[in-house]
Amino acid sequence: MKTIHIRTSKPYDVLIERGSIAKCGEYISSVTKSQKAAVITDDIVGGLYSEAVCASLRSCGFDVGVFTFPNGEASKNLDILSKIYNYLCEFGITRSDSLIALGGGVVGDITGLAAATFLRGIDFVQIPTTLLAQVDSSVGGKTAVDIPGGKNLVGAFKQPVLVICDSNTLSTLPEAELACGMAEAIKYGMIRDKELFKLIESYDISNVDEVIDDIVYASIDIKRDVVEHDEFDRGERFILNFGHTLGHAIEGWHNYTDYTHGMGVAAGMCMMTDRFCAPELAERLRRCVTAYKLPTGTEAPMEELLPYCSVDKKRELDSISFIVCEEVGKAEIRRVKLDEFYRLMGV
Ligand SMILES: NC(=O)c1ccc[n+]([C@@H]2O[C@H](COP(=O)([O-])OP(=O)(O)OC[C@H]3O[C@@H](n4cnc5c(N)ncnc54)[C@H](O)[C@@H]3O)[C@@H](O)[C@H]2O)c1
Repeated sequence: MKTIHIRTSKPYDVLIERGSIAKCGEYISSVTKSQKAAVITDDIVGGLYSEAVCASLRSCGFDVGVFTFPNGEASKNLDILSKIYNYLCEFGITRSDSLIALGGGVVGDITGLAAATFLRGIDFVQIPTTLLAQVDSSVGGKTAVDIPGGKNLVGAFKQPVLVICDSNTLSTLPEAELACGMAEAIKYGMIRDKELFKLIESYDISNVDEVIDDIVYASIDIKRDVVEHDEFDRGERFILNFGHTLGHAIEGWHNYTDYTHGMGVAAGMCMMTDRFCAPELAERLRRCVTAYKLPTGTEAPMEELLPYCSVDKKRELDSISFIVCEEVGKAEIRRVKLDEFYRLMGV
């Protein structure tokens, strides 16, 4: 097992171990005195993994309940959050009990927000089952739901008490979801770690499972470093947004249908690198992204994408910040006036 210790206001460990969901009860009992554990999951992940998680929790003396909601981003809303609260009341969860988020980023985000707010805050554990959730959303303490006004607009910072990453769960993940997580891993390599990038580019979507624990470890370690310096997202954490400014715009232009988040990020990273960096680097990144069956661009014209960047919630007054990696492993934040950004992007 590999462990990463995260030193945020409330420190916690991330455990990376194949087969660890079958031992989760043991690990969870070492960080909590809870009697009850409410497992929150979606209908796909619940069907695959809740039995193993519940059996392990019960064998360690927990009184276990399960709340399941329909999978997908459409469930990350106030209605499902309120159903979770009602379930926690029915199950008799008290302040000293725990929630267990079993699933991808949707389950992690909404369960984290429930844990941040129910009874003014209770402990929660993340058991991320997508690659994206393992390398990104389960670590760092951002929780949220979507409202009609936009994605992730209602949320809280709430660190989990433990994160358990079992890469065996990734074997049931659809290839497109694995690719989404790889887009974030490629991003970590590009912004901070040339060895990680080299490792990723020497595999592809068909065989990356062989080294996935190393990729998860290195990715989380970079997120750890960034989050420890900027837990509440006041500046440095923005570096994690490489590819995201255009990525969000691409997702929006495609109405959040044809382009998943990971596809948007992959295309966004390639388009920024094409525009601002040496052709050899742009080509290297494109080759890597293509090996994970991710897109390197979009049919959306730049002049139609940029208005989406202007409404990005990371924009400040009349300026916009974006990330450029001029070499693998080195990123810098650039901040320019909005009209200058349009000019730089060729519009
Ligand atoms: N909190 C953060 O810091 C942060 C960071 C990045 C993304 N996010 C959020 O994460 C969400 C996206 O997360 P996601 O990509 O994990 O999506 P997701 O949770 O919707 O999971 C994707 C799909 O995969 C299924 N699935 C999950 N694990 C599986 C497994 N092991 N086997 C088979 N199917 C499985 C799910 O049921 C779902 O249908 C978004 O809401 C995004 O806003 C949060």
